[in-house]
Amino acid sequence: MSRCGTPGAEAPRLATITNDSGEHDVCVTAESRARMTGMRTTTLGAGGPEVGRIGLGCMGMSWAYDEGGRDDATSVEVIRRAIDLGVTLIDTADVYGPYSNEQLVGRALAGRRDEVVLATKVGLLADGSRAVHRNGRPEYIKGAIDGSLARLGVDHVDLYQLHRIDPAVPLEESWGAMAELVEAGKVRAIGLSEVSVEDIRRAQAIHPVASVQSELSLWTRDALAEVVPYCEEQGIAFLPFSPLGRGFLTGSITSPDQLPEGDFRRHLPRFQKEAFDANRAIVDAVRRVAERVGATPAQVALAWVIAQGDYVVPIRGTKRLRYLEENAAAGDLELPPDALAELDALPAPVGDRYGTALPGVRGR
Ligand SMILES: NC(=O)c1ccc[n+]([C@@H]2O[C@H](COP(=O)([O-])OP(=O)(O)OC[C@H]3O[C@@H](n4cnc5c(N)ncnc54)[C@H](OP(=O)(O)O)[C@@H]3O)[C@@H](O)[C@H]2O)c1
Repeated sequence: MSRCGTPGAEAPRLATITNDSGEHDVCVTAESRARMTGMRTTTLGAGGPEVGRIGLGCMGMSWAYDEGGRDDATSVEVIRRAIDLGVTLIDTADVYGPYSNEQLVGRALAGRRDEVVLATKVGLLADGSRAVHRNGRPEYIKGAIDGSLARLGVDHVDLYQLHRIDPAVPLEESWGAMAELVEAGKVRAIGLSEVSVEDIRRAQAIHPVASVQSELSLWTRDALAEVVPYCEEQGIAFLPFSPLGRGFLTGSITSPDQLPEGDFRRHLPRFQKEAFDANRAIVDAVRRVAERVGATPAQVALAWVIAQGDYVVPIRGTKRLRYLEENAAAGDLELPPDALAELDALPAPVGDRYGTALPGVRGR
């Protein structure tokens, strides 16, 4: 029996492959897992590990949306099923919960850690009143990783992302601290979130930027102007968050009243009644394209995002197996040029992304 996996970790998974010289047991790694499933893959930037073309963001399993609809046992199943399907980029953050989402992800990855590219984030802190603050101080960052590793039950994460730049701390100082964590072997690569090209350049001067995570979807396209082309040119992975427009673009939310009390989306400008009704024209157009290409609106929304670049890996969220499977199928959906053109020409939405909700999060 071959040995593989992280020393001391729970027994790694083996798969049997057959080739000309017979049957062999091989380790299941994130790279082989993605390939074994047949899901299309790309790399996490030019030099990064291979990942399935679609990732999974775990925030909504523990935070921000639909508190009553959460169920940790199902969420664990969703994460494990995602890996089976080749969805190998798993994204979380210490602030989601706060902290409980990392614990949940850690439970789901028990025995399967080597099959994923595990990404978490640092730099935002939530207090009891759901207000969010930034902290990019080097000593804070260097201490926070140990909490994340303990909650995730791992000895390193593959991607550690600065959730937001702290305006009170020069980016060079925060990024320098993150680079030290690479040196220390606690993280393999480091990334940024919600930044400008100028920010990326400043960080690159100190240590390579492996990824940039920002909102990108059919109704949030700001990153396409400069950041996505720059990332593509530099071989940096671009990880679109909220690629389904926080659920809106799937057509499953038919009225803002459907969102339960306490759901963060109730505070967002695009989900206010008047804006919501105006924005339905966008979903209607997505639905028409979906019918034409024989897919669902969620699949079309994701396929459009994937089409924006070779290193673009959307991290969409769900806490349901049904949606997980539906969305994973979008990894193989290539939209014809006329569908892409129609989606490119959709009107801009009514309403800002965040408005006055979560002041610590909005803006750069
Ligand atoms: N860096 C940042 O600042 C930042 C900010 C926001 C998010 N993120 C990351 O991005 C990830 C995804 O973002 P997100 O969760 O806001 O956005 P999303 O993927 O755009 O939307 C998730 C919502 O869509 C619903 N949904 C998913 N698939 C569906 C389908 N096929 N049909 C109908 N509804 C469907 C989900 O419902 P259910 O939950 O009921 O399944 C959930 O309410 C997060 O988990 C997080 O990792 C990062």
